[in-house]
Amino acid sequence: MKVLVTVGSKYGSTREVGAEIVKVLRDKGFETDFEDACDVSTVRYYDAVIIGSAVYGSLWRRDAAGLVRENADLLRARDTWMFSVGMTSVTTPDQPIDEAEGLARLSGAIEHKRFDGRLELDRLNVGERALIKVINPPVGDFRDFDEVRAWAGDIAVRLSADAFA
Ligand SMILES: Cc1cc2nc3c(=O)[nH]c(=O)nc-3n(C[C@H](O)[C@H](O)[C@H](O)COP(=O)(O)O)c2cc1C
Repeated sequence: MKVLVTVGSKYGSTREVGAEIVKVLRDKGFETDFEDACDVSTVRYYDAVIIGSAVYGSLWRRDAAGLVRENADLLRARDTWMFSVGMTSVTTPDQPIDEAEGLARLSGAIEHKRFDGRLELDRLNVGERALIKVINPPVGDFRDFDEVRAWAGDIAVRLSADAFA
């Protein structure tokens, strides 16, 4: 059972979420590769794939979204999970469905999980900082790594069951 964890991340917070998922899977004994989505051309060599991306303007990072679109058939034939990292706590239930929902359907993902991310103004470029000042969301690191580890643990349980099926 070979697993790929791959992420689209601009400022690193999504990459750190991915790294935590990798740690859990390796601890449970799964052979797990960890790559930025821009470095992955095919998911052909993996039995299971976990793809995550930061959300910017309701869109996934282009490398992660492109990977899903270009590998949709292969992903549908594998156990696939998706996760989005963004400011979920400031989104409202009636907000338009963002790109990730469509990508989750396209990839046949078992689950699409949303995690809160990190927003720190001094990391942003001038345009982003101006936009964020208008939207005025809470600023800080809202990542809950216990929640991330629990989710990865659930994936490990499912993969173990599949391995012995
Ligand atoms: C300019 C800008 C736009 C953003 N747009 C969204 C958005 O539409 N939805 C959302 O949930 N989070 C949004 N976020 C929050 C980011 O997804 C969050 O900061 C995330 O942790 C960034 O991940 P990264 O460090 O891996 O790049 C936005 C952040 C910035 C700076």
